[in-house]
Amino acid sequence: MTEWQKADWRAKPRVQMPDYPDQDALRSAESRLAGYPPLVFAGEARQLKAKLGKVSRGEAFLLQGGDCAESFAEFAADNIRDTFKVMLQMAMVLTYGAKVPVVKVGRIAGQFAKPRSAGTEVMGGTELPSYRGDIINGFDFTQTARVPDPERMLQAYLQSAATLNLLRAFSTGGYADVHKVHAWTLGFTGAPEAEKYRDLANRISDTLDFMEAAGIRDEAAHALQTVEFYTSHEALLLEYEEALCRLDSTSGKWLAGSGHMIWIGDRTRQPDGAHVEFARGVQNPIGLKCGPSMTTGHLKALMAKLNPANEAGRLTLIARFGAGAVGEHLPRLIRAVQEEGANVVWTCDPMHGNTIKSSSGYKTRPFESVLREVREFFAVHNSEGTIPGGVHFEMTGKDVTECTGGVRAVTDENLSDRYHTACDPRLNASQSLELAFLVSEELSARRAKMAEAV
Ligand code: PEP
Ligand code: CO
Repeated sequence: MTEWQKADWRAKPRVQMPDYPDQDALRSAESRLAGYPPLVFAGEARQLKAKLGKVSRGEAFLLQGGDCAESFAEFAADNIRDTFKVMLQMAMVLTYGAKVPVVKVGRIAGQFAKPRSAGTEVMGGTELPSYRGDIINGFDFTQTARVPDPERMLQAYLQSAATLNLLRAFSTGGYADVHKVHAWTLGFTGAPEAEKYRDLANRISDTLDFMEAAGIRDEAAHALQTVEFYTSHEALLLEYEEALCRLDSTSGKWLAGSGHMIWIGDRTRQPDGAHVEFARGVQNPIGLKCGPSMTTGHLKALMAKLNPANEAGRLTLIARFGAGAVGEHLPRLIRAVQEEGANVVWTCDPMHGNTIKSSSGYKTRPFESVLREVREFFAVHNSEGTIPGGVHFEMTGKDVTECTGGVRAVTDENLSDRYHTACDPRLNASQSLELAFLVSEELSARRAKMAEAV
């Protein structure tokens, strides 16, 4: 067998990728990108893999979240900070319930390319190619904007680099210091979950005071003052992924240099397709979306391709069936994993199976369905005796009105108020926190049950 090469995907059938009309412009963009530094370092991807290995054994919990699609227009420090902040808050709430470390992975610094259910969009009698994310074409409904433009890859790279730079600064520069647990609440005043969060923050502050008084603080200082935050995105645009793929001299293995973790979407997971071919050759942790059409045969074939060495932390299965459908699909896939003796992380994406069109015409997701899918995911794992390893959300730290429901009920009519997503509807900050409390309760109930069993 010949060794894997980063361009091998080109010989495989591809779906959901653009046909660039100007091939010279494409080659020029690819070669400039190939000369730029990678965004992440192989040691970081290996560290994340080790942490996900812990998640697969129930010794840690995965929180993955961020935009459905990052956009050039929404690129601003405030947006990055608010997403980071709400993830820290959620992680705090989850750590409290799960009593295990929370592995924080953003859908950020590279989450630009989008699969679409239809190749074209019709508006007012005009039909145009679909918008596929800012890294590919423009959102404006004009013929010119919708032409795939390879220069956009360079802009996405620069935006990702700047985003990652700010995230790294926040992570280690003092912002993420747990002693600031109260400061992270600013901006949520009034909401009931803000109250709950404040209570929890008080308890954490008390513990920190106690530790300081007991002289424990110094040893723990570094761990409490910094946070490890990783990036992830769907590896959809393979020209971009290939251009940032690098050979890591330490391990002699390939690395997707575009982000710490990459995932394969539910529409591009054909076992003999281009996307699986690319992902199988890089050493990063890989996510695999599992929707209702995932057969046990496909899953087994994909596990064999993507994780032949059965390495813990390498493969994360992201279940996204929709509320009401988890009981029908998850048990058979869990059994397929068990039959293979495969090491995987199971995580729940309660977003992508619950998208509906609201009466006001907006694409939305009812918060109740999101919540219900999470509950069903936990219930199935509890009855199968397997590990619910994490959650995967489309969310923002901003006070948007994109998903309906939640304690500060967003209604169908409210959707138009602050509907800013370039693609799918996201949970707003208060809905995200509410969900974190729910997951935290599920986790502590599970812990209590397990303690009883021993
Ligand atoms: C996504 O995560 O934004 C996405 C498109 O998911 P899926 O592939 O599960 O539909
Ligand atoms: Co999405």
